[in-house]
Amino acid sequence: MDYIELVKIAYTAAGMAYAPYSDAKVGAALLTDDGSVYTGCNIENSSYGATICAERAAVSKAVSDGKRSFTAIAIASNLDGFTYPCGICRQVLAEFSPDMDIVLCDGNEIKAVRLSEIFPNAFKL
Ligand code: THU
Repeated sequence: MDYIELVKIAYTAAGMAYAPYSDAKVGAALLTDDGSVYTGCNIENSSYGATICAERAAVSKAVSDGKRSFTAIAIASNLDGFTYPCGICRQVLAEFSPDMDIVLCDGNEIKAVRLSEIFPNAFKL
């Protein structure tokens, strides 16, 4: 699975976003080490703190399916510029795969950064 394809899947997932409050539609495509892809979208709630981000929606699906080792996650949205994962999502991704790639996109522009680069010194027990 190349990253261009992963980004396309993330954009499709963004189409499923439930975001009536912010109108920020975010999609994620999570690539596991066995080559499977799990998608996620943000799911907002009128009790705002109950909102789940696209990245954590994808992680929840993967882990629930027995997948805990991730190679990359692509994040796409309808916002301007690259959509970086929020702090909580960085921590959740680091729990499973601290060296995974984060694939960012802004339309046709794509770049990959390491999670460890944008989230060094993750909290660990
Ligand atoms: N959001 C994500 O889905 N992922 C992120 O990494 C940052 C924020 C969503 C949550 C909320 O529905 C909307 O974007 C605005 O914060």
